[in-house]
Amino acid sequence: MKLLKVALVVGSLRKESFNKKIARAVSEFKVGGLHFENIEIGELPLYNEDLEENEPLEWQNFRKELKLYDAVLFITPEYNRSVTAVLKNALDVGSRPYGRSVWDGKPAAIISCTAGGLGAFGANHHLRQSLVFLNMPTLQQPEAYLSHAANLFDESGALIDASTRDFLKSFLIKFKSWIENNIEEKKV
Ligand code: FNR
Repeated sequence: MKLLKVALVVGSLRKESFNKKIARAVSEFKVGGLHFENIEIGELPLYNEDLEENEPLEWQNFRKELKLYDAVLFITPEYNRSVTAVLKNALDVGSRPYGRSVWDGKPAAIISCTAGGLGAFGANHHLRQSLVFLNMPTLQQPEAYLSHAANLFDESGALIDASTRDFLKSFLIKFKSWIENNIEEKKV
């Protein structure tokens, strides 16, 4: 089996973001067969269909880059019980021009993480709603809702909570099988 390239798309721009720290831990777990790379979404101009006539360079690069990945792992906080604006913007930019969505058919999974107590459930499920329309087969079980994020890391930002580490490792093993079972040959 070839190495599977997974794009990590993080829905927070904050320097000390807990979600960025989860993404870092995921990259460091070294689950065999998966290779993770961070995709930057913070510089994408806000989606405006008028700009398609003269596609911004950032959109061009993002669209080209995403095509190189076999799958996408979204790691996101919740803002006002939904996804963050920056993440929704990235979904929209990648989804157009109509019929040329970079998301189409790529297996996906979602980890939501919050400082609060409800695991960013609202964001996780609003994101799932968009991924249905984007035709991304999305891992259903296990679900990953991480709460009380301030307790999970040490001062250096390393994920030190043992049960979260164990859970994420098993989540990634399931995700790997999910990718293998859902990857479209034309995209390999
Ligand atoms: C939040 N936060 C938040 N938390 C939550 O669990 N549910 C929510 O609906 C919201 N809403 C919300 C709106 C806005 C505008 C902000 C700035 C924050 C708190 C949020 O979970 C917390 O700031 C996280 O630490 C954000 O994730 P990162 O940046 O640490 O990855």
